[in-house]
Amino acid sequence: MGKKITKIKKVVLAYSGGLDTSVMIHWLKKKYKCRVIAFTGNLGYGKDFEDAKKRALKIGAEKVYVEDLQKEFVNDYVFSALKADAIYEGKYVLATALSRPLIAKKLVRVAEKEKADAVAHGCTGKGNDQVRFEVSIMASNPGLKVLAPVRDWELKTRMEEIEYARKNRIPITSSKKQLYSIDSNLWGVSIECGVLEDPWAQPPEDAYRITISPEKAPSTPDVLEVSFKKGIPVRINSKTHNPVELIMKLNKIGGKHGIGRADLVENRLVGIKSREIYESPAAVILHACHRELQNLTLDRETLHYKELIALKYAELIYNGLWDSPLKEAFDGFIEKTQEWVTGTVRIKLYKGSCIVTGRKSPYSLYDKKLATYEKGDSFSHRSAEGFIELWGLPLKVRAAVAGKKQKK
Ligand code: ARG
Repeated sequence: MGKKITKIKKVVLAYSGGLDTSVMIHWLKKKYKCRVIAFTGNLGYGKDFEDAKKRALKIGAEKVYVEDLQKEFVNDYVFSALKADAIYEGKYVLATALSRPLIAKKLVRVAEKEKADAVAHGCTGKGNDQVRFEVSIMASNPGLKVLAPVRDWELKTRMEEIEYARKNRIPITSSKKQLYSIDSNLWGVSIECGVLEDPWAQPPEDAYRITISPEKAPSTPDVLEVSFKKGIPVRINSKTHNPVELIMKLNKIGGKHGIGRADLVENRLVGIKSREIYESPAAVILHACHRELQNLTLDRETLHYKELIALKYAELIYNGLWDSPLKEAFDGFIEKTQEWVTGTVRIKLYKGSCIVTGRKSPYSLYDKKLATYEKGDSFSHRSAEGFIELWGLPLKVRAAVAGKKQKK
């Protein structure tokens, strides 16, 4: 049984337009005898917002907010993750995880404006998203009540929800059995459930939404030049794009080449291992380019230390700690490093792979006179001798001592 929450007069629901949150509008009104306001954020892709809005009103929402969050999502969330090189467990670019704190923040703002006494979300009790939503809500307004009906209600299966919808004349998009659970935004698509629950089963082609299979991709590559300014992508070839447009464009072209598919058994915060597949063409291309530009422009110590931060930063995002002081402190470090990350990377897209083939920057630390094996070499070979002597000294001493001991 869920928490006892008494007297709720008005709730703002994070509404996606899907089955769960459609049924939820009706369920909340009935259970709490309260007014329900729906809130939907547009994060790019996959939804008919007008239709979702109409349906929410028909089900009984008093008002529906649809906010275009694409720009804010990219500038304040996606690009922070990109600058940090944040990738979870080697593969997941955190598309879903990054969207949650933003949706939560906006949900709270609407609740405050509407003087609502609670917010509600449609997450299950087994996933990461419930944690991300609720932790971000707490961080944004510690006094606000949060309802998570899916954890409490009596509707245990999708069929029971469909039956509830039918009985109560709730318009839903499709009553057909859904093969997968999908969450998408412009940073990527997350797909789970159905046959994917067997970690050995090969993902069927119909599971993918925005990428073609690499086998079916064109046999001529596309070569792109992606330019960055202080760690942020600004141009493809010679054309400047706004951030949302740039990502959309790379998704399209990357998807056409079968780039950005990942298949992962991941560790959820709540202790479960789950299998999920992902599609994120733009993110995979941009991460590859960004890292390469850092290889050129950051000194070794900063670069290597940044890799450690990247791991932790990805974990914080995954684990719902976007609003934490540690993440904020990391942002200070990351922002400082990005002052140098300006330049252009050339990348070849071909049958599922994106391969960097060149990089240049006004802040390049590459010095041909030092690197060359040809004429014009300025590296001090004599210094190398002394350097190696001292570098190896502890091992030399140890080996000598070990040798002495053996003789005894
Ligand atoms: N596993 C991903 C995460 O926790 C995505 C979760 C949502 N996935 C979905 N298919 N609805 O961030």
